[in-house]
Amino acid sequence: MSEKRSSFSGKLGFVLATAGSAVGLGNIWRFPYLTAKYGGGIFLLVYFVLVITFGFALSCAEILIGRKTGKSAIEAFSTLNKKWSFVGWLAALVPVIILPYYSVIGGWIIKYLVAYSTGGAKAAADSNYFSNYMGQITQPIGWFLLFLALTAVVVLLGVEKGIEKVSKILMPALVILIIFIAIYTICMPGAIEGVKYYLVPDFSQFSATTVLGAMGQLFYSMSLAMGIMITYGSYMKKDVSVSSAVHQVEIFDTGIAFLAGLMVVPAVFAFSGAENINKGAGLMFMTLPKVFDKMPGGAIIGLLFFIMVLFAALTSSISLMETVVSFVCDRTKLNRKLACLLVFLLCIVLGIPSALGNGVTGVWDSVKLLGFSFLDFFDFISNSVLMPIVALLTCIFVGYVIKPKALIEEAELSGKFSGKRLFTIVIRYIAPICIVLILVFSVREALGYTKV
Ligand code: TRP
Repeated sequence: MSEKRSSFSGKLGFVLATAGSAVGLGNIWRFPYLTAKYGGGIFLLVYFVLVITFGFALSCAEILIGRKTGKSAIEAFSTLNKKWSFVGWLAALVPVIILPYYSVIGGWIIKYLVAYSTGGAKAAADSNYFSNYMGQITQPIGWFLLFLALTAVVVLLGVEKGIEKVSKILMPALVILIIFIAIYTICMPGAIEGVKYYLVPDFSQFSATTVLGAMGQLFYSMSLAMGIMITYGSYMKKDVSVSSAVHQVEIFDTGIAFLAGLMVVPAVFAFSGAENINKGAGLMFMTLPKVFDKMPGGAIIGLLFFIMVLFAALTSSISLMETVVSFVCDRTKLNRKLACLLVFLLCIVLGIPSALGNGVTGVWDSVKLLGFSFLDFFDFISNSVLMPIVALLTCIFVGYVIKPKALIEEAELSGKFSGKRLFTIVIRYIAPICIVLILVFSVREALGYTKV
């Protein structure tokens, strides 16, 4: 194409767009339940350490690869070195796996939104509400299809800008609401034990799986290891400081995840007792309605909450689908409409198993892959296998093939690159060694799982 690549206006534009893709269900739904599952404070600590080391280095690497080449993932890798374009291909596979099950969770959000808007707040607070819903057939599939269709319509009509405008207002409102709910929760009897569980690390809970869980979550939450940041980087102007933009996105993304954890984890202690902390993917849906039920005006607050979360989820799913569609368009010469339809159909085929095999009470839960239900399996394969592999290959590529210096020079086009030593050390040594170790441990564990 001969036309000039459009670019973000300045740093604020870049940070807002990147944060829009980063903040989503990963922060609000996934982070709290993983923290609860992996021992609270210890997971939080490991996650923080990973954000400022791995997260920083990998974000910089991907953005700089994009900015240096001005291309999206596959072309960017092959421009720098023909033999390495396969990393771009692998990265492109990740959103194809994530989008279908992301839409399943998006469907759960719509289900609760509808419940709250039709006077179902009391019913939703019942302990069996979530599991009853998950055990059905038409509902989990129906709400999933609705969420996916909403996403597809936006991508098809190309009205992302409209959604972005609305979410620029709703996202800050969501943050305020989360803070409010968190404060309310913490003040409830019994919640303080949960705050302790969340904030004070218990080192006896530390294990390779904690680190793997935190690493997968980091990739997921910051939209790393799937070529997305390369594309975003390709739209970034050369005079914007990459390191400070990355710091801002990190603070934003991690801050919201932290607050979401503070909203959900102590509530579990207040309502269901510590033994219910390991409820898995449904944790937020089982816990928050109970909080809303106790709150004056809780039915309205709950409704507002689910509306805002829906928008946060949609901005992410739209950007995920956008990625897959433009990939299909580039590779197959199909027009956008057809590509969109194709991706929509593929997501239905891949999503229905996750809607029914949801690991809670799903009718397909008896089918296990590596010991996981369908939903957990797709989550595991993308976050704990494919993304670490893409991240590892990216590190080797930057550290030893094109060399960190090539990207540092690119970063220094906008002045000093603070953190360049950290960047080099993490990319060349720390990240590759840790990722290999963690992968080996976790795959062994997953395989051991099936033998039992
Ligand atoms: N980061 C998003 C979230 O926290 C999920 C996500 C992963 C994503 N990869 C993405 C969103 C790519 C948009 C584009 O929910």
